[in-house]
Amino acid sequence: MKKLGILLSGRGSNFESIARAVQEGTIAAEISLVLSNRCEARGIVRAKEMGFKALCIPSQGRQREEYDREVVKVLKDHKVDLVCMAGFLRILSPYFIQAFPNRILNIHPSLLPAFPGLDVQRQALEWGVKFSGCTVHIADETLDGGPILRQAVVPVLDDDTEGTLSLRILREEHRIYPEAIRLMVEDRIRTEGRRVIEVKKEGEGPKKV
Ligand code: GAR
Repeated sequence: MKKLGILLSGRGSNFESIARAVQEGTIAAEISLVLSNRCEARGIVRAKEMGFKALCIPSQGRQREEYDREVVKVLKDHKVDLVCMAGFLRILSPYFIQAFPNRILNIHPSLLPAFPGLDVQRQALEWGVKFSGCTVHIADETLDGGPILRQAVVPVLDDDTEGTLSLRILREEHRIYPEAIRLMVEDRIRTEGRRVIEVKKEGEGPKKV
């Protein structure tokens, strides 16, 4: 069975949605490690409560690659096949990316390539876009720039605040991230340039539009 390593920095609601999918058997993998760069992260507390192996390696004050080398070693020690960043608010060094080629996923609360970076729900509101959403992509050496596995769109309403928009997007994150992880775990994707194409299971027809 494939092994997942979850990286988080905060609340951990995406981690919880992945954990539920694993526990329900929707994702046929095990979570071998939940790792946070912030020891006070709620997500790490939840991971322990839920009975997962959870570790904190504080990143504050550490040089990027030196920190990443330690994290990569821990992930490899736990035989992790697929790394899932779930609100892990750090940029990965090329060393990290190369240690898990095409095996690191990230979720981002915008319709990439619009609004990479931080505070993106606020940026979407300020820009005045009428739709926003979330993206699951393969992490590469660019910021929020790797090939896209899944996206979901939500409307931006006239009376939205950063909070209401974030919540609407988050509900979609909890739906598409486990789906994307499942595709990876089942080796059901192939890539054509930047395009990620879903390989259908036997007997599955083309999706109706
Ligand atoms: C999520 O909205 C996720 O998309 C975002 O952080 C939040 C974490 O929430 N990630 C990024 O902004 C990465 N650039 P969670 O801790 O409850 O899963």
